[in-house]
Amino acid sequence: MARPLPPGPSAHVLPTWLNDYARDPLRFLMHCASTYGDVVRLPYGILGDIIKWKRGASGYLINDPQDIKHVLVTNQRNYEKEGMVPAEKRIFGQGLLTSIEPVHRRQRRMVQPAVHHQQIQAWGEIIVRKASERVGRWKDGATIDIAQEMTQLTLDVIWNILFSADVGERASELMHGVTLGSHHIVDQYHSVFTIPDIVPTTKNRAFRRAMAKLDETIYDLIRERRATPQRPRDVLSALIEAHDDEGNPMNDSQLRDEIVTLILAGHETTANALSWGWYLLSQAPDVESTLLDELHTVLGSQRPAYEDLSTLQHTERVWSETLRLYPPAYIMHYRSALHDDTLPSGTTISRGTDIMISPYVVHHDARRFPNPEQFDPERFLLSHKEQRPQFSYFPFGGGSRTCIGEALARMEGILILATIIQCVSMTLMPHQTIVPEPLVTLRPKPSIVVKLNRRTP
Ligand code: HEM
Repeated sequence: MARPLPPGPSAHVLPTWLNDYARDPLRFLMHCASTYGDVVRLPYGILGDIIKWKRGASGYLINDPQDIKHVLVTNQRNYEKEGMVPAEKRIFGQGLLTSIEPVHRRQRRMVQPAVHHQQIQAWGEIIVRKASERVGRWKDGATIDIAQEMTQLTLDVIWNILFSADVGERASELMHGVTLGSHHIVDQYHSVFTIPDIVPTTKNRAFRRAMAKLDETIYDLIRERRATPQRPRDVLSALIEAHDDEGNPMNDSQLRDEIVTLILAGHETTANALSWGWYLLSQAPDVESTLLDELHTVLGSQRPAYEDLSTLQHTERVWSETLRLYPPAYIMHYRSALHDDTLPSGTTISRGTDIMISPYVVHHDARRFPNPEQFDPERFLLSHKEQRPQFSYFPFGGGSRTCIGEALARMEGILILATIIQCVSMTLMPHQTIVPEPLVTLRPKPSIVVKLNRRTP
């Protein structure tokens, strides 16, 4: 006998639940999990049947760690990454984040060594230098937008790592395109119909101009570097010199796509996580004081460095807990089933079903994180971590598409928190209602404004 379909909201001609999703994605996802359980069916309606050439086409939101592991790792070959909107494809092209197999496998083999652990050690020095320079410019008693500061800092860091240069004119041109592109992506995420980019609407025209400028900037960077005889040892040089298994290097278009991907995926996520970290710390004096004790014991009056990472355990727990509460990648691109399958929970998946996975939902599950809204870094003590199943916490995804920058992001998180908190404490300015805004990543809205108090050395 056929198993009953999992529960979920209904849809007739149109998936009307998409309006609720567009209005407030986090609330919608959390509501689905609490109302319908660990597997939620999100039907696409008759429209979906037509688009997908299939009756009963739907997405399944899965919240059970075992099911998630199955889709992302155990049977990952059966689940192809999909759900990229046209604007995303235009910005990232065939870069690692958006390409599918077999292109993805080839690209990953070439890009991975460029962001490998050996280089990461040297990047620790860049991170601490850039964070120290920035904190050095902050005046005692000043009021700053810490989210904006973190965006500039992480952009500065990734720019130095990629190009051995400080952020300048080019970066601001590029970021203009990227910001406009991000808004275009979010508009497309939240609409049932996407107006193709070739239709000359005002938004589309602005997007096309911004993309042309972005391409020009990146191609200039590539051209100049190819012509440099003594290339610096950075990611751009490593990508230019990388070869696939047949000995072929990347062409300019592939290089462009990987560079845009690394700039974007490599700074906005980390900036958001750090911003949320400051927000949480500003409201948790106990956690902050334990953090300061650890820094005092481990570092004395020295700046942190790569070698301190394994000792700064409380700092790491603060970072991990921040990513639990506010995972920048709050929902992953969905995975589409290539063949019929059965999940460990017993749910039958038919070919063409889209699987949706939200780290935000799973990280707020009270069965694994009691009192889930509370900021409590002690949840990441080893003894507590060991009691939770794999994939109850996965801010960096998993399987063959796992984040390539996880180690870099971890190092940035710990070293930036440590460098800055040694110098200043932050007080949240009153009358701010700060909420997570689920755009491409999970940003603090409207921003986070803090007053700085310099610590006496
Ligand atoms: C806190 C910071 C970060 C978070 C939370 C994060 C999260 C993620 C997640 C969840 C994925 C998997 C997406 C999926 O499977 O659909 C991913 C992929 C990726 N991330 Fe990150 N990321 C962070 C930082 C970085 C950094 C610093 C870089 C670059 C240096 C980076 C580059 C990438 C790339 C290239 C991919 C695509 C990997 C592939 O599909 O092979 N990320 N990231």
